[in-house]
Amino acid sequence: MNVTRRNILLGGAACAALPGLAFAQAGAEELWAAAFDHQLLPDPYGPTTLWGYGPASPGTEIRVAQGARVRRTLVNGLDQPTSIHWHGIRIDNAMDGVAGLTQGAVAPGERFDYDFTVPDAGTFWYHAHDRSFEQVGRGLYGALIVEEPEPLDIDRDEVLVLDDWLIDPDSGQLAASFGNMHDLSHAGQVGNLVTANGAHDLAMPVKRHERLRLRLINAANARVFQLQMSGLDSWIVALDGMPLPTPRPLSEALLLAPAQRADLIVDVTAEAGETAGLVSVERGEGFALASFPVTSEASATRRGAVAPLPPNTVARPDLAAATVLDLRMEGGAMGGLRGARLDGEMQSMNALVAENKFWAFNGAIGTMEGPPLAELSRGETVRLKIVNDTAFPHAMHLHGMHFREVTKDGQLGDLRDTTLLLRGETREVAFVADNPGDWLLHCHMLSHAVAGMTTRLRVG
Ligand code: C2O
Ligand code: CU
Repeated sequence: MNVTRRNILLGGAACAALPGLAFAQAGAEELWAAAFDHQLLPDPYGPTTLWGYGPASPGTEIRVAQGARVRRTLVNGLDQPTSIHWHGIRIDNAMDGVAGLTQGAVAPGERFDYDFTVPDAGTFWYHAHDRSFEQVGRGLYGALIVEEPEPLDIDRDEVLVLDDWLIDPDSGQLAASFGNMHDLSHAGQVGNLVTANGAHDLAMPVKRHERLRLRLINAANARVFQLQMSGLDSWIVALDGMPLPTPRPLSEALLLAPAQRADLIVDVTAEAGETAGLVSVERGEGFALASFPVTSEASATRRGAVAPLPPNTVARPDLAAATVLDLRMEGGAMGGLRGARLDGEMQSMNALVAENKFWAFNGAIGTMEGPPLAELSRGETVRLKIVNDTAFPHAMHLHGMHFREVTKDGQLGDLRDTTLLLRGETREVAFVADNPGDWLLHCHMLSHAVAGMTTRLRVG
């Protein structure tokens, strides 16, 4: 396969840069959300105005030890309300950061104190959770890394936050079309520029026979990356922050849906002078995400077998004793939905379109405020059977608890917080509802979440 710089799909001329904005210096425990200028595009484009934490995008990396207490004060330097969700953390409900559900939105100029502990070691992330289809799309996210108690036998630990951006080729700025009807009703907002760590041409020099841990985070609004490696031997050791019992060789493309993470152990096999790479191959086209120029040889021989990461302690669901819940996903373009309930009333599709609602769960437009999908007692085991009866892929995310994907033969599979369902696919997930509170269950294609694919589970 011939990979070119096809991730840059832009044409047109550069525009003048916007005037830079001045910000107060962030204090150690403060996390500023603000607009800033960033050189996202190649020459001759000037900087693009993004929103970020720090401010930067990806935002300030938070790296703590397992079990640590994390305290950060969000300072809202944006001109709209916001909040921060700590994605994948089995967190205290009051700190989950869902504006309008677990806290009030933080108004411009206001602050909010987050204070929580992180029970699991792994790769997590944080992102805005108010108008997230726009706020995450403009860059409001960062990595939240929780380190294992014992260091791994690796040479380096690198975080790669993957994203795509929808750029207006004339101005070099983000297209101002967040929340348009097409994105809401089709695949979501898919960009025309892919980046890793905010760079379209990330190059990370490595040495032959080095062993890296790569922590991949998909921060995109809707793009499902289809990841392949060249010049590197890779094993998946964790998904969505949760270690696999056995490292899994990366043989075919790894699908990484919005919000999903994958921890890879990577051995550099390319020779000094060659360049290894991470690409996403989508519909026959290769998008280069990162290149790894091999500068020299770290050692004459490769390292030995890859060991599994120490497991996190998550209750194992007993499938035989579980409450069964059904979730049928319907609607969207080409979905044939004729109408659905909204706020308890049956509405025609025309009426729903006028409200910018296009998707339904079990015949009702999903909303954050509506009745929960289920009220569970604490400790109850749930089997959630999800059917994707739409023409698009969806990445279903549950807040507050990880679930296990149930395999086709009825076994407990990978622990995840976000599961990808391709069109027409069904997936059963199971978990013990051991974290009390109101927990969102929504599609992480963020345009879908706001257009009807949001519900919640209440755990008593
Ligand atoms: Cu990462 Cu409700 O989301
Ligand atoms: Cu979706």
